[in-house]
Amino acid sequence: MEQRKNVVIGVTGGIAAYKALDIVSKLKKASVNVHVIMTQSAQKFVQPLSFQSLSQNYVVADMFDEPKTWEIEHISLAQKADLFVIVPATANIIGKIANGIADDMLTTTVMATKAPVLIAPAMNTNMYQNPIVQENIRKLEQMGYRFIEPDTGQLACGDVGVGKLPPPEKIVEEILQQLDRKLDLKDKKIIVTAGPTREPIDPVRYITNHSSGKMGYAIAEKAAYRGAEVLLISGPTTLPSPYGVQRIDVNTTMEMYEAVMEKAKWANIIIKAAAVADFRPAVVAENKIKKADADLIIPLTRNPDILKELGNRKAPNTILIGFAAETQDLIENAKKKIQNKNLDFIVANDLTKEGAGFQSDTNIVTIIDKKGHIEHLSKMSKGELAEVILDKAKQLSMEGVE
Ligand code: PMT
Repeated sequence: MEQRKNVVIGVTGGIAAYKALDIVSKLKKASVNVHVIMTQSAQKFVQPLSFQSLSQNYVVADMFDEPKTWEIEHISLAQKADLFVIVPATANIIGKIANGIADDMLTTTVMATKAPVLIAPAMNTNMYQNPIVQENIRKLEQMGYRFIEPDTGQLACGDVGVGKLPPPEKIVEEILQQLDRKLDLKDKKIIVTAGPTREPIDPVRYITNHSSGKMGYAIAEKAAYRGAEVLLISGPTTLPSPYGVQRIDVNTTMEMYEAVMEKAKWANIIIKAAAVADFRPAVVAENKIKKADADLIIPLTRNPDILKELGNRKAPNTILIGFAAETQDLIENAKKKIQNKNLDFIVANDLTKEGAGFQSDTNIVTIIDKKGHIEHLSKMSKGELAEVILDKAKQLSMEGVE
């Protein structure tokens, strides 16, 4: 018989606490073993007995209960959890976790767990939008805590705005999805490059491009989520590191080249989503270049082609995936790159299409493999595209590449 998954639900003191009852009940019906921890203020909204009846497990409500629950329970629940969910999560609990405060049963258990933590905030709109709360959320997201975005609507306080707990069905769906998370890339070591490079002209100016890093970061995030060991080599972006991903920051193409070459042998899949500058100023001025009456000509010199070099050195069982950013003759140009750079497949984005390429949250691409198969994909989020690319890479690695 399949072992039942353990979910620990932390309930905090908000009017939406009653909705957590429905969540516990639905999870039980889905054969999940549920343990509930309540904060003191949560108990002002709902009785522990209600959660106990629904979960059929003892509800931890007081740290200093006899028998000494905090000594035994917080460690055992922290270890037992396959997933930790805080629902509803107040600004207070988010602030405490973000700042390492562990002064009750819930916060000490969260701090002791190695399970993924999912947080469903619910509060007044102004509180939710308060920069301190937003900063705490960002901080936790960067550390790998996942958040369920609150809905917008009429709140218990009468205000209309963001901060409403999403319907229990939606939260349960998210929980079940997290529990089922497939770790199908767990034996893979993946290098992803992302973002632009910056080629300095003088101490204040540089040549760059519009890459935001979103495409590469999405691939790194999805790969780590599917269990791969991921090394993200990133040009300058404003994006937080995806959870579980090791990141090396670089600025110039030369720096990216060095970092990629140093680590290339370690990887069995390399995905080059970075938009790399092909040229750099031949000389970097020591001081800021002054305005002059005549035109300024800056001689450029070739940067190494990192992907081409990887293709030259490619081991037979390494999968090498390139991107192509094109404004004309997409298929022709992409096919040439597969050959020149010895790629297994290329993801070609047509930059002339709305919703494709730089900066956007979506992409529209054609995937071409080295055997000449062409697959036109419709517009999708960069996260969805990342999954398609990883599925294809996994498939190739199962077939064994020549
Ligand atoms: O970062 P976003 O805003 O999300 O945008 C995503 C993206 C448009 C940057 C991405 O989807 C993309 O297309 N990346 C590759 C852009 C690019 O540099 O294309 P290219 O056709 O110039 O280069 C082809 C391939 O060679 C790329 O994999 C590139 O990383 C690699 N290359 C290019 C030049 C060079 N000197 N070294 C390289 O390794």
